[in-house]
Amino acid sequence: MTKAPDPGTLTADPASGLEGVVAAHTGLSDVDGQNGQLVLRGKRIEGLAGNVWFEDAILHLWHSYVFCDADEIKKALGAARSAAYSSVPLIEASSGKLSIYERIQLGLAALPLDPDHPQAITISGALPVFLAAAFRVSEGEHPIAPDPNLTTAEDLLRMMGDEEPDAEHIAALDRYLVTILDHGLNASTFTARVIGSTEADMKQAVLGAMGALSGPLHGGAPGPVLDMIDAIGAPENAADWISEALKRKERLMGFGHRIYRTRDPRADVLKAGLKTLQARNPKVSLAEKIEEAALTALRKAKPDRALDTNVEFYTAVLLDAIGIDRKLFTPLFAVGRTPGWCAHVMEQQATGKLIRPASLYVGPKPA
Ligand code: ACO
Repeated sequence: MTKAPDPGTLTADPASGLEGVVAAHTGLSDVDGQNGQLVLRGKRIEGLAGNVWFEDAILHLWHSYVFCDADEIKKALGAARSAAYSSVPLIEASSGKLSIYERIQLGLAALPLDPDHPQAITISGALPVFLAAAFRVSEGEHPIAPDPNLTTAEDLLRMMGDEEPDAEHIAALDRYLVTILDHGLNASTFTARVIGSTEADMKQAVLGAMGALSGPLHGGAPGPVLDMIDAIGAPENAADWISEALKRKERLMGFGHRIYRTRDPRADVLKAGLKTLQARNPKVSLAEKIEEAALTALRKAKPDRALDTNVEFYTAVLLDAIGIDRKLFTPLFAVGRTPGWCAHVMEQQATGKLIRPASLYVGPKPA
């Protein structure tokens, strides 16, 4: 009889949410919480976002798994958008009770996968089409077909109903998509890797990752950030509003982070993307004043915590300045993160190993 595997002696503190536990080796992204740095396959996020197109950043991340050049990836993602449009009637016919997010998941569940074509391309191309269609259907409008010759950011704005997207809006959306492409072993990425490790197809891994992202502790902060900015309304109200909120023990949305013990580098990358939009969006200057007041108040209230601005704060400001509806913030995060999830699935599947940790039984003993 072969010996059963060792049940395992490494036990993470069950109350820690696996914090500090290394569950994968990855060459995809490095989140350095102490120094406030994010590196994607050897390149700092500041060097990528705003300097390369989303498609180029995807290709950079997929380097070891999908073999094509910059021109081919743009064409392949464009073709994948066109192919995905054949699943849109299902989104259009779906029940009005479904949320935009659920309609995207429906489209994804129905997406045909060709065994001879990289699934990562098919799925990453499909998500923007499903988001735009789900949004328009929820607004009582007909979906708009993709244009495979455009970049993802431009086509996305166009499919959402912006007939001639403004060049600055395209650039800002593209910067956002690159900024959120990948971020270590967060909850949704871990979920994708676990599902991928069972050799389930990539569609199932992305559906599961979307499930994890839907929770308010993971993907849901930018909407509330905008609610806070709207509630403050004017720079002169910021200090009092914030001080009252902290007195009520409320958390300021868009500040603090589990990993970063300094400023989230993505906050600055997105803030830089607002420069061109600031003149025509008074909310940008208001947000900057609110940020200043919040940091002053948080440093006074929590001097030991080094609380600083996180990615969600300027995500909210940037997407709002582009004119994107706040109910699209979490779905849009899924669009930007999908190629990152796919990269992790490919990396995990290359190990050929099923993820199957042990649990420690603490229940009653049999009588
Ligand atoms: N506003 C006010 N106080 C805060 C904030 C905040 N934004 N963040 C942390 N604190 C305080 C907590 O109240 C707590 O105080 P206490 O020790 O007196 O109880 C202390 O700082 C530590 O809080 P933790 O929750 O243990 O800190 P952690 O680092 O685990 O929290 C989290 C990270 C959940 C993101 C937290 O900072 C928070 O709730 N922020 C607001 C919501 C937000 O912006 N979420 C998006 C995060 S970015 C992302 O997920 C992509």
